[in-house]
Amino acid sequence: MLRVADISKSFGGNRVLRGISFEMKEGEVLGIIGPNGSGKTTLLNIISGVISPDGGEVFFKGKPISRMRPHKRAKMGIARTFQITRLFSNLSVLENVMIALHYGGGQSSEERALDILNMVGLSQKVKDRAGSLSLAQRKRLELARALALGPYLMLLDEIFAGLNPVSVEEIAGLLKRINEERGTALLLVEHVLKALFRLTRRVIVLSEGRIIYEGDPEGLKKDREVIRAYLGEKYAKQEST
Ligand SMILES: Nc1ncnc2c1ncn2[C@@H]1O[C@H](COP(=O)(O)OP(=O)(O)OP(=O)(O)O)[C@@H](O)[C@H]1O
Ligand SMILES: [Mg+2]
Repeated sequence: MLRVADISKSFGGNRVLRGISFEMKEGEVLGIIGPNGSGKTTLLNIISGVISPDGGEVFFKGKPISRMRPHKRAKMGIARTFQITRLFSNLSVLENVMIALHYGGGQSSEERALDILNMVGLSQKVKDRAGSLSLAQRKRLELARALALGPYLMLLDEIFAGLNPVSVEEIAGLLKRINEERGTALLLVEHVLKALFRLTRRVIVLSEGRIIYEGDPEGLKKDREVIRAYLGEKYAKQEST
């Protein structure tokens, strides 16, 4: 369904992505982790169309999309949430979802918007101003807006960041339901590993713009290159002896 082929991207002299390739099947859940600044958000930006790559190609359902506008990709079924939520703070919760329904080219009915808000647990907040919501509620609303596109693939940039353990647990449960009931594939960029591993056994580790590991959570903890990327050379040597 999604194929990322040899993607590279530089900002000035800073080579942020250096030949990234991986694939995702329909309905799959994949986690991307890596130290701060390793290029995770840049990769999501390239898949969703916020920026274009210098080299390589992104294929969605077999079609090259790396020159396609974000709007068109959204209509094809690629939705995303942002590391820093991007809502219309002065509009109501309901209006935020109605706009997303319209953007996705679907029928922008209030009934559909209410269904989606019910699914993400915001049915008590429909009339509230988006700007008045707590962080956890704003993240739920971001999810609702992504769901409004009826996506095949959702790109989630640190959805659990800054949430308390109860909200993390609830939103992880919600994502699991979305994946299982709707068959929506999820690509999660995440630092909260416990919640991530509840959702998937398949993770990719980015470090300095390269994939240094691809596999299950168990192998991850033993991988010397991963330990080095996170903790530095000293720890990697200790671990190996
Ligand atoms: N638009 C941009 N212009 C210039 N440099 C950028 C831009 N976007 C990202 N960078 C740089 O690219 C590198 C990777 O950034 P990116 O945001 O992709 O990292 P990340 O893995 O998402 O980090 P974090 O875990 O902190 O969110 C950083 O050095 C960052 O400063
Ligand atoms: Mg980021």
